[in-house]
Amino acid sequence: MRCGILTLSDKGVKGEREDLSGKFLIEFAKAQGWKVEAYKILPDEEEEIFKTLLSWCEELKLDLILTTGGTGVHPRDVTPEATKRVILKEIPGLSEYIRYISFSQTPKASLSRGLSGIRGETLIINLPGSPKALKEIMPSLKEVIEHAVKKIKGDPSECARD
Ligand code: MTE
Repeated sequence: MRCGILTLSDKGVKGEREDLSGKFLIEFAKAQGWKVEAYKILPDEEEEIFKTLLSWCEELKLDLILTTGGTGVHPRDVTPEATKRVILKEIPGLSEYIRYISFSQTPKASLSRGLSGIRGETLIINLPGSPKALKEIMPSLKEVIEHAVKKIKGDPSECARD
């Protein structure tokens, strides 16, 4: 699995906050045996996020892009808006699942507006920005991500088991 990690944080770009979330996702991906082929930290600017996501789908043709940050309700949070312009098929259930597993940790999970979807053969998943949230979410997401990436590439095998 070839993946990209995109951190969205105004403070991170200015060096006012260490990107612990990006680091966590890179380490998590490597621990699963996924190859991290792209990593970037960008400000919460819709156009920049849009262009990077588009290029990672169209030029790098990554299998998976995990974004972290910018999913909330602050006026600067625009990750879902940029993602919506890139994905051609939305996967609402994946983001619903992320919020569902997060509700046992905090009702503030309801404030994450993250989207998930597909462009070409690239799966994009918006995740919240805090390292704490990622630690709570990622272990439960590994299996569904790997299954989704296989299916997106046209794996014809039966999913359902008895
Ligand atoms: N999800 C989990 N699992 N754990 C958390 O601590 N924090 C929430 C939410 N999702 C949180 C979570 C909070 S406080 C916010 S504001 C939103 O994610 C949006 O975060 P973002 O703007 O950094 O993406």
